[in-house]
Amino acid sequence: MSLWSFFEPADDPADAVLGSLIRAPDPEPAISADPADLAHQLLSFPLDPVQLEILRSPAQYIALCCHRQWGKTQCSALKAVHLALRQPGAEIILVAPSLRQSGALLRAMFGFLNTLKINVKSDGLNRLSMLLPNGSRIVAIPNASDTVRGFSNVSLVIIDEAAYVRDETYRAVFPFLAASRGKLLLLSTPHGQHGFFYRAVHEPENNFVRYLVRASESGRLTPEFLAMARLELGDSYAQEFECSFTMGEEQIFDRSLIDQALDPIIQAFR
Ligand SMILES: Nc1ncnc2c1ncn2[C@@H]1O[C@H](COP(=O)(O)OP(=O)(O)O)[C@@H](O)[C@H]1O
Ligand SMILES: [Mg+2]
Repeated sequence: MSLWSFFEPADDPADAVLGSLIRAPDPEPAISADPADLAHQLLSFPLDPVQLEILRSPAQYIALCCHRQWGKTQCSALKAVHLALRQPGAEIILVAPSLRQSGALLRAMFGFLNTLKINVKSDGLNRLSMLLPNGSRIVAIPNASDTVRGFSNVSLVIIDEAAYVRDETYRAVFPFLAASRGKLLLLSTPHGQHGFFYRAVHEPENNFVRYLVRASESGRLTPEFLAMARLELGDSYAQEFECSFTMGEEQIFDRSLIDQALDPIIQAFR
C-alpha cells in the first residue's frame, strides 16, 4: 500500500473513520485575488472609483488626502483584511493620533473578519492585536516613538489621520518596512503646512502615489450638508472638506511664499 493510497477513500468502514480523522481540516474559505470581491461581500454600498483604485493599487507608498466622512476607515480596513487573508503570516501595523483611533480601525477589521466567520485571538503581546488562523497579525499601536519599536518584516503600515500623527512616531515606524519592502498607506484630512503627511502630498520627488478627494467633487455628501458645514465651520471648512492645507496658527508665512522665496538656482540656500 503506497502512502498516497492510504489517504484515498477506503472501502472498509473502519478505514473510512480513520481517514476522516487524519485528513487535514477544511481549508479556510478561498479569498479572491481581487479585493473588490471582498468589498462586495462585506459592504452594504458599492465602492466609488477612487476607493476601488486604492483597494486594488499595488503601489508601495500611497498618500490619500480626503475630506471627512469619505470612507477612509472602511476602505483601509478592507485593504488590510484582504492582505491579511491572502498573505499568511502578514504583519500589519495600524497607527493613528491616539490608541483609541488606531483601535477603532482595528475594530472595523474585526467586524469584517467576524462577518467572514474567521476567528481571531490576541497575539498575547499587544493589547490591541488580532492573530488570524493563517498566522497573519494586525496590531494597533499608539502615537509614541519610544514604545513602538520592535516590529520588523511588516507587510503594511496604515497611518490614519496622518496629519495629526507626530513626525517622531513616523520616524520610528517607517523602518518597520525596510526588510520586507512593505507598503505604507497614509490617510488624512490636511492639518497645517508641515509634517510628514504634508510632505508626502506635496514633495514632487518622493515616491508616493497621491490622491486628493474634495467633498465638492466626490459626491459623497449632499450639497445641502456642505452648504451648512461651510457656514458652521467657517475657516476650517476648507481644511476639513476641501483638502486645503491652510496655515497653522503657529505659522507666520504661507508655505507657498517660503517656497517661492527659495530660488532653486541658489543651491546653497536649499
Ligand atoms: N462608497 C461609499 N458609498 C456610500 N457610503 C460610503 C461609501 N464609503 C463609505 N461610506 C460610508 O461613509 C461613512 C464614513 O465612512 P468612514 O470610513 O468612517 O469615513 P472616514 O474614515 O473617511 O471619516 C460610513 O457610514 C461609511 O459606511
Ligand atoms: Mg475614519
